Amino acid sequence: MDLKSLESEALKDLEQVKTLSDIDAVYTKYLGRKDGELTRVLRHLGDLTPEEKKETGRAANVLKNFIEEKIQTKQKSLQASFQTFQIESQKIDLTLPGTPYQRGHSHPILQAIQEICQIFQTLGFDVVEGPEVETDQNNFSDLNIPDNHPAKDLHDTFYVKLKEESGKPYLLRTHTSPVQIRLMKEVKKPPIRVVAPGRVYRHEATDATHAAIFHQVEGLAVDANITFADLKGTLEYFAKHYFDAETKVRFSPSYFPFVEPGAEMSVLCFGCRGTKKKDNGDPCSLCKGSGWIEMLGAGMVHPQVLRNVGIDPEKNTGFAFGMGVERIIMTRLGVDNIRTFLESDLRFLEQFS
Ligand code: FA5
Repeated sequence: MDLKSLESEALKDLEQVKTLSDIDAVYTKYLGRKDGELTRVLRHLGDLTPEEKKETGRAANVLKNFIEEKIQTKQKSLQASFQTFQIESQKIDLTLPGTPYQRGHSHPILQAIQEICQIFQTLGFDVVEGPEVETDQNNFSDLNIPDNHPAKDLHDTFYVKLKEESGKPYLLRTHTSPVQIRLMKEVKKPPIRVVAPGRVYRHEATDATHAAIFHQVEGLAVDANITFADLKGTLEYFAKHYFDAETKVRFSPSYFPFVEPGAEMSVLCFGCRGTKKKDNGDPCSLCKGSGWIEMLGAGMVHPQVLRNVGIDPEKNTGFAFGMGVERIIMTRLGVDNIRTFLESDLRFLEQFS
């Protein structure tokens, strides 16, 4: 093939080139050390006459430089467009919406416990905690609950296999009141002002308002001259801050062996505002037609309980209360089934984020 045809064929081949490996193939075809078409021409220059050798040699070298140059140019442009492609394909579109992720939040019961404790903290109460596995002494005996009390029955309390030195089995605390005992035994010297949140366990049949595992917040204040008026004022303050300023509370007599006198505090029903009826005349389902919703048990600490923990009831008096956290949230939010708090159903829980 003459040099002219070689040049035009090489140019045609270069035009077809699409990839860097195509370029390598063109190089090998024309300039390859062994079999390149132009290399062959240069290798056979020796077969020519001196005159032809001079002329063909010069022309072949010009063509070699020319093809090399073209190959380099093509190589550079291919590399440039490959880089552009890479940059374009990796480009981040900042206007695209982000990938949403689920953000967690604390459980509504924990939220309520924190809110309740904060209200009492503004009144100077400290927050303390006690263990969920308790002794019979703290959970019952020191709280004036005698051995023959029905609350101690196997049907009402979960006992564990482990036994105390006295031979009595440990139990899952049935209320947060044993924290009162622990604290008074530890501090001994009034003034005492604490709230104690925590989980409690009862061996009972569950329904819409009763769970076997639920939460309470205990309150205890012991000092010289504490009266029932302090108890009422403190709990009314709590109700007006936790519910709303218009909330009305009612105290009615009740019995707990560890207080005397004992009381229950109810708040005016949020569903019917005390009218006992729904708008359509049916009995209000929230308060079951009574107009009031029971919130907690309370009373003046029984003198025997003070004696049990080494505090002189002649010099000090105290009040205590225990509220059910789930019941309080249910009342505030109009939730009608306590089980929803225990079921870990995100459709319910996400409402509290
Ligand atoms: C007690 O547990 C007493 N320790 C409260 C107390 C403390 C009285 C200090 C006096 C002085 P009671 O069993 O009534 O009392 O429970 C207190 C509150 O816990 C109830 O008012 C109710 O709100 C809640 N509660 C009781 N049983 C359940 C249950 N099974 N499920 C959910 N909440 C409950």
